[in-house]
Amino acid sequence: MENNMVAVILAAGKSTRMHSSFSKVLHKIYGKSMLGYVLDDIRSIGIKKGLIVINNQNWAGQKFPLPKGIRVAFQKKLLGTGHALLQTQKTLGRFNGDILVLYGDTPLLTTETLRKLVEKHRLNNAACTLLTVTLKEPKGYGRIIRDEKNDIVKIVEEADASLYEKMIPEINAGVYCFDAKEVFKALSSLKPKGPKKEYYLTDCVEIFAKHKLTIESIHTENQDEAIGVNSRLDLARAQTIAKNKILTKFMEAGVGIIDPTTTHIYNDVRIDQDTIIYPFTVIESNVTIGKKCRIGPFSRIRPDSVIEDSVEIGNFVEIVRSRVGSGAVIKHHCYIEDSNIKKGVNVAAGSVVTKESKN
Ligand code: UD1
Ligand code: MG
Repeated sequence: MENNMVAVILAAGKSTRMHSSFSKVLHKIYGKSMLGYVLDDIRSIGIKKGLIVINNQNWAGQKFPLPKGIRVAFQKKLLGTGHALLQTQKTLGRFNGDILVLYGDTPLLTTETLRKLVEKHRLNNAACTLLTVTLKEPKGYGRIIRDEKNDIVKIVEEADASLYEKMIPEINAGVYCFDAKEVFKALSSLKPKGPKKEYYLTDCVEIFAKHKLTIESIHTENQDEAIGVNSRLDLARAQTIAKNKILTKFMEAGVGIIDPTTTHIYNDVRIDQDTIIYPFTVIESNVTIGKKCRIGPFSRIRPDSVIEDSVEIGNFVEIVRSRVGSGAVIKHHCYIEDSNIKKGVNVAAGSVVTKESKN
């Protein structure tokens, strides 16, 4: 869909609030990194080219396969989100289109919202279109300041906000469409701000308003999609939201989930209808489960496994990198690794089956 649009994902930040030795955007939610979610988003709205801004130190030793069309730009000194976007100027300084800027710590955006944002931006020929959401607890986010005509005039960060501004519930979700030429002009005139003397990307909005450029916004009603993950607490919250989304998808497709609170199914799992999942079950990446299976309580199905139709897996069973043929029964306390359990086999309680086992 979007030829004249490039995406930039800011992902160089330090993970200070995460207390982690590597970039927070590489932390995973149900088997997929936060950055992976954002990359999938841009692909799903048809953007083919993008840049990820990273910092060598925070990414040291971390492997991340770059999808086709995505390149990296480096931010050596972490001087804020405005400074981060400025690092793409070498590549995009002469680009005549629009830039969709996203943060790598915002994994739960919906493609529907992103599409609306891009559409509105294009329709109004705006210099900037940004996503806002109204939160019950806006603490920590940049607040949207509007004038008496309801036009956006600036964004104020939590650290710089007055008591009055802190009471504003409409926040900046950190997703923007910018006219490339205008944003680079504004970035070059940013002044460092706040307790950490950072160059805020959000200050471009005030610069645009002062120059009477068109600033548009769209507002999402879905509070969950705007979550910015800064701490491990936020990560757990995002995980719960993602979990409910995944489980809802399965239940709507005919999979029985007896206790959604204690069931964890990774993003890319496939399960056929009339399979029932019992409580305290974990099903990890790249697992396929056929129809009419019973996956018992406290079972864990680990990556690269295939469970064919009408299989019964009992309590405390762990399966990894294995295929279980249709109608097989593995009822209690078993460990199955790198194996191929044939059709209809009944695996005795307490069995350990590995590549070396003769079965
Ligand atoms: C930011 C926004 C805030 C918004 C919130 C939404 C700014 C100044 N503030 O705050 O208005 O409500 O996101 O979630 O933009 N990063 C870099 N280089 C840097 C600093 C950050 O690449 O020097 C990256 C981080 O890796 C992260 C993203 O930019 O992915 C946002 O940075 P973060 O520190 O999380 O900003 P917030 O405080 O959440
Ligand atoms: Mg953040």
